[in-house]
Amino acid sequence: MLLRSRIISTGSYLPEKVLSNSEMEKMLDTSDEWITERTGIKERRIADNTQAASDLAFEASKIALERAGLGPEDIDLIIVATITGDMPFPSTACFLQDKLGATNAAGFDINAACSGFLYSLYIADSFIKSGMHRRILVAGTEALSKITDWDDRTTCVLFGDGAGAVIVEPSNDDSGILSIHINSDGKMWDLIHVPGGGSRNPASQSSIEQRLHYIKMKGNETFKVAVRTLEDIALKTLQENNIDPSGLSLLIPHQANLRIIQATADRLKVPMDKVIINLDKYGNTSAASIPIALDEALQSGRIKEGDYILLEAFGGGLTWASALIKW
Ligand code: UT7
Repeated sequence: MLLRSRIISTGSYLPEKVLSNSEMEKMLDTSDEWITERTGIKERRIADNTQAASDLAFEASKIALERAGLGPEDIDLIIVATITGDMPFPSTACFLQDKLGATNAAGFDINAACSGFLYSLYIADSFIKSGMHRRILVAGTEALSKITDWDDRTTCVLFGDGAGAVIVEPSNDDSGILSIHINSDGKMWDLIHVPGGGSRNPASQSSIEQRLHYIKMKGNETFKVAVRTLEDIALKTLQENNIDPSGLSLLIPHQANLRIIQATADRLKVPMDKVIINLDKYGNTSAASIPIALDEALQSGRIKEGDYILLEAFGGGLTWASALIKW
């Protein structure tokens, strides 16, 4: 039998501070009604001044380790998906390794924006299958509030902070990750990006005055591409495994916009009661959204042994990805 990898435990962490739509109404020209209707978001969590991406990932990873009954020294690789790393370098995975005391692990980061967790899971799955690693910690963590332009109502109402983590090991039966598919299209890089702070537009007084260090998004165009590509990649993943959408127990989508989630579920003919939604509480947490949603689904008993679960994500790059898991 072909070796598979499987997720043996999960954890998640959300910062304590809640920022509701009604509080945002007082900050800028927006309304709870607009945000709720256009996105489904009601509130989001905001990291405090002392919390960077590795701090959020640390909290989520501790829980995942504890639930697996493992110590930090049992991990041999750490992959962190983030676009809001603590610093341009070193990697956030190195900060996380140090905080956990995971002295036997190597670590690196993956930047695939909102698809980052599934890209990281793809790598973890390949490394387990090849026998290169035996126990991998994959974390998706974002402190998006730190790169959000709080004067731009078209983006600032969308994002939130949080982290999720999973531990991946070889499977000893036919459960586990059945397949993961990843895609990129760099031609559409400008639909969602942060123009400043890299080698293209290094940080300077002028880059800061032009607010280049904040997220820019062409929301409407992004929306249309998202719906199309998510349907395509979800169907491709299901077809590859000869599973009909009706055979899915659960769909765990990236939490960007309720209308995107509904449109994708509609196209796949998956009823909404089989779809995990938590963006009303957390907004779009980019690379953290799927591992947080997966953790909440598990903790609330919505996942049973033998269930087929489809994960799907779309984000900056552009990138998109999906994974089919037999739990
Ligand atoms: O996670 C990675 C991928 N990201 C996404 O998938 C995001 C995809 N895009 C979206 O979720 C949606 O496009 C948005 C929620 C960002 C925007 O929704 P929309 O229905 O596409 O609205 P729009 O951008 O076409 O804007 C409609 C109107 C505009 O006013 P006019 O020009 O029609 O007068 C905006 O200025 O809504 C206005 N508007 C707002 N009004 C109140 C934009 N933002 C706000 C706001 N409050 N926060």
